Amino acid sequence: MEFSLFVLEMCFTITALLCYPVCLQGNPNASPFPSNFLFGTASSSYQFEGAFLSDGKGLNNWDVFTHKPGNIMDGSNGDTTVDHYHLYQEDLDLMQDIGVNSYRFSISWARILPKGRFGSVNKAGIHHYNKLINSLLLKGIQPFVSLTHYDIPQELENRYGAWLSSQVQEDFKYHADICFKYFGDRVKYWTTFNEPNVAVIRGYRSGIYPPSRCSSSFGNCSNGDSEKEPFIAAHNIILSHAAAVDVYRTKYQKQQGGSIGIVMNAIWYEPISNSLKDKQAAERAQAFYMNWFLDPIIMGKYPKEMQEILDSNLPSFSNHDQEKLNSTGLDFIGINHYTSFYTKDCMFSVCEQGPGNTKTEGFALRTATKNGVFIGESTALDWLFVHPQGMEKIITYVKERYNNIPMFITENGFCENDKSDSLTEETVNDVNRVEYISGYMVALGAALRKGADVRGYFLWSLLDNFEWTLGFTIRFGLHHVDFSTLKRTPRGSATWYKQFIANHTAEKILMPQHYPGNQLGQHFNTI
Ligand SMILES: *[C@@H]1O[C@H](CO)[C@@H](O)[C@H](O)[C@H]1NC(C)=O
Ligand SMILES: *[C@@H]1O[C@H](CO)[C@@H](O)[C@H](O)[C@H]1NC(C)=O
Ligand SMILES: *[C@@H]1O[C@H](CO)[C@@H](O)[C@H](O)[C@H]1NC(C)=O
Repeated sequence: MEFSLFVLEMCFTITALLCYPVCLQGNPNASPFPSNFLFGTASSSYQFEGAFLSDGKGLNNWDVFTHKPGNIMDGSNGDTTVDHYHLYQEDLDLMQDIGVNSYRFSISWARILPKGRFGSVNKAGIHHYNKLINSLLLKGIQPFVSLTHYDIPQELENRYGAWLSSQVQEDFKYHADICFKYFGDRVKYWTTFNEPNVAVIRGYRSGIYPPSRCSSSFGNCSNGDSEKEPFIAAHNIILSHAAAVDVYRTKYQKQQGGSIGIVMNAIWYEPISNSLKDKQAAERAQAFYMNWFLDPIIMGKYPKEMQEILDSNLPSFSNHDQEKLNSTGLDFIGINHYTSFYTKDCMFSVCEQGPGNTKTEGFALRTATKNGVFIGESTALDWLFVHPQGMEKIITYVKERYNNIPMFITENGFCENDKSDSLTEETVNDVNRVEYISGYMVALGAALRKGADVRGYFLWSLLDNFEWTLGFTIRFGLHHVDFSTLKRTPRGSATWYKQFIANHTAEKILMPQHYPGNQLGQHFNTI
């Protein structure tokens, strides 16, 4: 009797041991999110902080741009926006209530270095971010920090034309060094740039973002060259990334133990048909959008599709640049993913005029419809369509092209068109946002189950905020903000995200934890 019980017990133990890895994977109810997965919300300095001239901050390109009449749809600007600079404690409480373990934000470059490397470090700016970072860590929330998110000290624009000059590499390197020096003991996740593809396309091709440069056939600007300048600006950004990573690797990383990457805007381009031509067009669209930056940073050269089509309009890397790129690289790829488009070949086929169908974008027409049917539900933004499958496809694409380098979904979210500040049942009970996020989470989970090394997800955004040229006409928040009183009110989506995180972290699923930079910072430095 005793003996047989013992045997029975042994059998269970052995079965459990043998079964364990297999059973977990096979269990459709097991959370696909590893236990050290980062769940967070994302923000950026210009869209959130306000306090545009407080405590010694210098003017940046967005301050100057938004103050010119006609640039922002509702005539607004980010002078105050949601005043996160002063109300961050309240916002951290909201984050804590949701249960996030990370917060993605950006450092306002002009707050730290009002005149770039041509002036002194603004200690009040350093002090602000020290307070923010320390408050986060006290709540167990990991800071995940961008060195810049579209904003650059206006001084650098005025002195030498910012991204059009190779001098900017020296400035970016200097800024990065200051940030690592003051904050790197506690910040373990750094990203150099946020969506540099969007910044250069809108700043130098269509001219709708600062510095408002374009050729007349591409937009309404007083100066610029849409066929050349986006590629020059991108080239300087890529080399600035390499310079910053080089500083991190040589002076800080060993001691501080963090990691560094870049954040790209990533669209899923679905070939409009199964033809080889349309598949190649989708590949060109990706080359001219995302791989444009990731290929040089990871593989030392521009995508071959770009080299072939752009020829001398595409700058080239010297041997020395290539060596630098090859030796620095990145530790992870940040993916901002919201939407998908169909893509149609216009290089070998006769094609209507439209977005994407130019030499500068690789002759790959982007369209939201196929046979009159949208790729997904449309939203308040003309570029945002609800197509959750795109999340799994873009992750898989990046995984395969770049050898499953660790990834973070650094942005994903849903917007509504709601100009009024007043609270209604409809604005608080945001079922469409919940549906969007839950669909994209399913797709992310599917990618994880198939082995994609995604280590975090940041929802855009905690609060309604300043949406660039659309001002305050578009709302992305888990919390509604009344822009006149700055009162924050949780929406249904905030409750949903809280439950989602709780559901996926309560039962710790054991999976390999091989990511190093995950300890809370011990040293709270002050200045
Ligand atoms: C182009 O910009 C100028 C100056 O900002 C403005 O007066 C003009 O109306 C704009 N034209 C178009 C077609 O938008
Ligand atoms: C950089 O890496 C690429 C891809 O591995 C390689 O083709 C190239 O020769 C390398 N360049 C230098 C200068 O090391
Ligand atoms: C969390 O889990 C509960 C219980 O299984 C379920 O009813 C609820 O829908 C889940 N919520 C989310 C947001 O995942």
